Amino acid sequence: MRITVIGCGYVGLVTGGCLADAGHEVFCTDNDPVKMQMLEAGKVPIYELELDTVLERAQKSGRLRFLRNSGEAIRAGEAIFICVGTPPTETGEADLSAIDNVARMIASEARTPKLVIEKSTVPAQTGQELKKVLAVYSRNGEVRFRVASNPEFLREGTAVGDFFHPDRIVVGVEDKESERQFREIYKPILERTFSCPVHTGACPATGTPPLLFTTIASAELIKHASNSYLGLKISYANTIADLCERLGGNVEEVTQAMGLDPRIGPEFLRAGLGFGGFCLPKDIQAFVKLADRAGVEFGMLKEAERVNRRRMDQFLEKVKRALWVIKEKRIGVLGLAFKPNTDDIRLAPAMEVIRRLLAEGADVRACDPQAMERTRALYPNITYNSDPYAIARDADALLIVTEWDEFKRLDWKRVRELMARPLVVDGRNMLDPKTMMELGFEYHSFGRAELSAAVAAP
Ligand SMILES: NC(=O)c1ccc[n+]([C@@H]2O[C@H](COP(=O)([O-])OP(=O)(O)OC[C@H]3O[C@@H](n4cnc5c(N)ncnc54)[C@H](O)[C@@H]3O)[C@@H](O)[C@H]2O)c1
Repeated sequence: MRITVIGCGYVGLVTGGCLADAGHEVFCTDNDPVKMQMLEAGKVPIYELELDTVLERAQKSGRLRFLRNSGEAIRAGEAIFICVGTPPTETGEADLSAIDNVARMIASEARTPKLVIEKSTVPAQTGQELKKVLAVYSRNGEVRFRVASNPEFLREGTAVGDFFHPDRIVVGVEDKESERQFREIYKPILERTFSCPVHTGACPATGTPPLLFTTIASAELIKHASNSYLGLKISYANTIADLCERLGGNVEEVTQAMGLDPRIGPEFLRAGLGFGGFCLPKDIQAFVKLADRAGVEFGMLKEAERVNRRRMDQFLEKVKRALWVIKEKRIGVLGLAFKPNTDDIRLAPAMEVIRRLLAEGADVRACDPQAMERTRALYPNITYNSDPYAIARDADALLIVTEWDEFKRLDWKRVRELMARPLVVDGRNMLDPKTMMELGFEYHSFGRAELSAAVAAP
């Protein structure tokens, strides 16, 4: 099928790249000329595992094209995926101006019938507004638009694998023709006729992912309801961690046992610095606002947000308690991206950690395998080094903010020898407290026994 993708960010590139790689003819466009220039030149503007392989293969096959002329891109596809950003406004609601902008553009540029698909995360009722905009701005009243919602569940860091091997595909439609088109779009995924970029050899033998057809409003709600639930789960685990700290339990033992109950499941029960990134915080905020406007009190989500905000204070309190005075201390921040295997720093906890450390006069040094360039644009005056050992040298403290494997695998004995003072505050419970204590560190994490060589000495 001929498919148009508008918005070449994380979601647009993965959607467009994977659909083209799987056999469709895809036309991608974006209003950022710098991004388009890079993409035309075969460069990938974001870091996402296997995305470069997928885009290169699809471009070489001629099935994936990047078009600066958005009108041309719109006219080329039978189905149009809208993948533009929906960032939070000052009040926490989703800013839908990019969606509105794209809808008006589609209405004026289309010459033939189109299936217009919301892939961006939007609040319920957006589909109805989209339909209205497409109708009223259509210059040529004869063009028929059908609107659908197809929320995206990919996780940055494993996005390509998630696209080819989804847990479920949710589609909100209003008519049989749209349903038929979606079956065609996702046929290569459902029948596994793609050449998998993630697995060498055969893909794991999981069943066909469920393709769920719902109303448009349900599909929109499913996305916000899912992300908000994940946020709730993390905040729940973090509150258990607080209890463990007060009562002497170990949060990992508690959440591991909880997760073995299939009704609970082990995912998203990791205690630590809390959730960040472009999706969870903004989607919860937008869902709370949506509920408020609908007259439904969603207090438990507000509490989940509050618990999450408090994590940052608690983390920095741990740093302060250990260091006493922050001013002029050399503090190494390990991890800038909001999670491992991405370069995305949008609403990443590390940004707030750095802001607060600088406000207290710390000498901040930072390291991340992928996100240093992006962070430099925000904090040009701190010291960056891609070598974590260089960050450790003469440091008064190391803060673990993102649990990259590269940090897990460090020679921590060497790290201790390099540091001015062997203090590690682990915001991700990435390391084992006992091992760290045996290596001679003062080590603090969330919801686990506070150990230090001095304290543990017989
Ligand atoms: N990033 C994720 O992990 C993820 C996962 C699921 C859903 N989502 C949702 O998908 C949407 C996109 O997220 P993203 O992370 O890809 O955002 P992004 O900011 O990386 O990409 C959005 C792109 O849209 C482009 N754009 C904005 N306005 C435009 C316009 N008028 N015309 C053409 N292009 C325009 C921007 O230049 C940018 O390249 C959001 O609603 C997000 O909540 C994101």
